[in-house]
Amino acid sequence: MKLYLDTANVEEIRTAAKWGVICGVTTNPSLAAKEDQDFGKILPSICDMVDGPISAEVIAMDYEGIVREARELAGVHKNVVVKIPVMPEGLGAVRTLSAEGIRVNVTLVFSVNQALLAARAGAAFISPFLGRLDDIGQSGVELVRDIVDMIDLHDLDAEVIAASIRHPEHVPAVALVGAHIATVPFKVLEQMFKHPLTDLGIEKFVSDWKKTQGK
Ligand code: E4P
Repeated sequence: MKLYLDTANVEEIRTAAKWGVICGVTTNPSLAAKEDQDFGKILPSICDMVDGPISAEVIAMDYEGIVREARELAGVHKNVVVKIPVMPEGLGAVRTLSAEGIRVNVTLVFSVNQALLAARAGAAFISPFLGRLDDIGQSGVELVRDIVDMIDLHDLDAEVIAASIRHPEHVPAVALVGAHIATVPFKVLEQMFKHPLTDLGIEKFVSDWKKTQGK
């Protein structure tokens, strides 16, 4: 399973890129709104820092508007993947854009039916939001498992991005049900490194080595 970073914060992306573990980035309008800079300036910077799919979302809700915004976003850099919500006008746009070679990440997916529709329209990526499903008392991990099984069973091309990840335990859970990608907030990525025995082990290695230096 590949790891993407789920943020529009350039410093977080710069730091995570140095750690060598992420190969893509996802953003959304809410994440972009948290930043001081205009997203039009942020997007090219992200593309310079990470050489992999960078998802940027359309704001338009009508077919013509979605197609127009998507073409503009895709024109920023070859790695830009356009994010479009799963809805009828949006999927019509996915069909048009995928025929032009523009990759689309269909977002706000909460059911296997929505994932099937997205795949049939030509989505390159499908993003089920597990945290938001957990929030309403349904299993986000089960949804990811069912979508991955459906994609595999019918030999569809789309990659499944487990999105709306809220804590480190979500990551192995979606890895074990076969998600192709997990997009994680920076805080979760930091938490993934942590284990008390690793910290203790490093401390002991360093102190044991220092003892030999005085001999
Ligand atoms: C990524 O593609 C999604 O937009 C993001 O993971 C949503 O996360 P949230 O449900 O925590 O807002």
